[in-house]
Amino acid sequence: MHQLRLLQKCHGAYRRLSSSANTGPLEILGAHHPTDSFTNVGPSILSKIPLRLHTQPGHPLSTLRSIIESHFPTYSHLSSFSPLVTPFKNFDELSFPKDHPGRSPTDSYYINKNLMLRTHTSAHEVDVFGRGEDKWLLTADVYRRDEIDASHYPVFHQMEGARLFSADKASMKELEEDNEYLERVLEKSNIIIEDIPHISPSNPVQETHDPVHAELVAKNLKLSLNSLILRLFGGAASNAEPLRVRWIEAYFPFTSPSFEVEVFFRGKWLEILGCGVVIQSTLDTASMFYSCSSFFLSTGFYTLYIDVKNKIGWAFGLGLERIAMILYSIPDIRLFWSTDERFLSQFKPGDITTTFKAYSKFPSCFKDVSFWNAVAAPLHENDFCDLVRDVAGDLVEDVKMIDSFVHPKTNRSSTCYRINYRSMDRSLSNEEVNELQKVVVARLIDEFRVEIR
Ligand code: DAH
Repeated sequence: MHQLRLLQKCHGAYRRLSSSANTGPLEILGAHHPTDSFTNVGPSILSKIPLRLHTQPGHPLSTLRSIIESHFPTYSHLSSFSPLVTPFKNFDELSFPKDHPGRSPTDSYYINKNLMLRTHTSAHEVDVFGRGEDKWLLTADVYRRDEIDASHYPVFHQMEGARLFSADKASMKELEEDNEYLERVLEKSNIIIEDIPHISPSNPVQETHDPVHAELVAKNLKLSLNSLILRLFGGAASNAEPLRVRWIEAYFPFTSPSFEVEVFFRGKWLEILGCGVVIQSTLDTASMFYSCSSFFLSTGFYTLYIDVKNKIGWAFGLGLERIAMILYSIPDIRLFWSTDERFLSQFKPGDITTTFKAYSKFPSCFKDVSFWNAVAAPLHENDFCDLVRDVAGDLVEDVKMIDSFVHPKTNRSSTCYRINYRSMDRSLSNEEVNELQKVVVARLIDEFRVEIR
């Protein structure tokens, strides 16, 4: 998944000369927050924060959330956590290394140095475990700076799920029985699961875990998620073509062993989630958190204390847009933000069998911009995309870097981007697009000191 992908990305050292920096406090969800040199959220991102699509009745993301929740009826269903978190919560509490590229302001949105927009729902794991929750699902909007195309949007929605077990004999016996039950159900279903050994040297069981317990928990994780996937995608499988799912080893800083899951859908393998056995330090931190808060709530005679520490569990995180795009055949991620009835009226609460019918495809209009970068600081692609998004909003369908080179004599670097403008609900005039492009160019010069070629 994404955090994994971030590890492989290369990062420029560029710090944006953003117009949104140093502009005084930002008002977000009714509170004022100071800005500083880290601030990199613009109006187009801020305007999305109150929308909470995953809670809007009838919205396909909200429908998908409800369906997944109904598959886990005994779990707590949480969906009202604020997107504002400290970098500590988003990264450190989950054991992200100090030099993880996801921390960079080129990849994440910062309100200021000490406050950011969560990049994933895992940011709330410690809080939720710390409340003493053993089985839970948490749905939320998450924010990442990224390229612009049909499947990437800087705001999207994730669902985090987790289950903890007491690491004692009786609970492990129950877990074993639960696994046998789930296994029997899946055996009767039209699903082919390509699996890998639960535990391999590069994806180890944690030292603090009893290997038998870890194996049982990993098995429960796989069975629970295979059964969810069958619920979501099973309808599309026929007798002739069973549903195919494959498990792949992965790396996440906060799970071990870790896995990714892919589903074979319409001729392609598509990654839909990341998961694993929760690393014990997450539960240790949650345990401290819980015992502190319960200490203050205690009656004086005794302190409520849930020992999250002596538990073992699994967690997963999935992207709702990704799954909804596959299930409903939605071709462009911008559509989720559309308020057009022609989009919204196609989805009925509780229904995952709808196939989206495009109401029209309006013509596109592309414009190129080539520039010499300011000498010491090449412009990061995510900075360029954010600027375009700020100017043109959802009128931009995709942005591609079509050329880049370094001049052999002057050593200056040049970049050329192609911006493809297309509205989802009307035709754009050439004049309108020219106006937008003019603003993009003016802001490029002003904020990034580039020289247009
Ligand atoms: N937070 C990860 C991401 O956004 C996904 C994830 C991976 C969540 C493993 C988990 C997990 O809970 O156990 O890429």
